[in-house]
Amino acid sequence: MSLKHAQNPVIQALLQRRSTPAKALTAPSPSEEELQLAIECGTTAPDHGALRPWRVRVMQDEQRELLADAFGRAFARLNPDATEQAIEAARSKALRAPTVIAVASDTRHDVPKVPAFEQVASTAAFIEHMQLALNAMDYGCVWVTGPLSQTKEVKDALGFADSVDVVGLIQVGTPSVMPPPRKGVDLAQILISK
Ligand SMILES: Cc1cc2nc3c(=O)[nH]c(=O)nc-3n(C[C@H](O)[C@H](O)[C@H](O)COP(=O)(O)O)c2cc1C
Repeated sequence: MSLKHAQNPVIQALLQRRSTPAKALTAPSPSEEELQLAIECGTTAPDHGALRPWRVRVMQDEQRELLADAFGRAFARLNPDATEQAIEAARSKALRAPTVIAVASDTRHDVPKVPAFEQVASTAAFIEHMQLALNAMDYGCVWVTGPLSQTKEVKDALGFADSVDVVGLIQVGTPSVMPPPRKGVDLAQILISK
């Protein structure tokens, strides 16, 4: 590409962004200062009405056991016939990466000019800013949700109110493998011309 901005480092970071599978995320995790910097980058997300709907809970190392227990309890409640093995598999999903950053939208329903979906959209933008910042610090991450992330058990374990929308449980660590380069998207499929 000959466009003069094509080599700009921000543009290049965006074009090359890839998620790292959770099972390929290992220690070391971001430090406290690095986490704060990534979260601060999240706070520059577009935010209609400056409602600041974002809520963040970081769980690292042994703290993730609380999340794993909540995954196990929620899975057992939703699947009363589940085997011990299936419950353990659900539990283990909280323990794949060394750090989990849970991000929720504390969505308000009393602001007519900012409907709920806009607040969740802002929280999604927050997450992507944060992911890009983590990538810039050489950490890998992947945004996951799954059917258990909205359960009361999981929200309780994260310290979130039951009324929030959990938008992502971001798995973070140092990539043990580099994800392959992305296959480009055909812009003709997304550009509407009439
Ligand atoms: C709201 C949201 C929820 C997601 N939940 C999951 C999930 O539960 N499990 C999963 O494997 N990927 C999930 N993804 C997709 C991954 O984050 C990632 O985008 C995907 O693996 C493709 O990799 P890439 O980001 O490198 O293109 C989710 C993405 C979004 C935006």
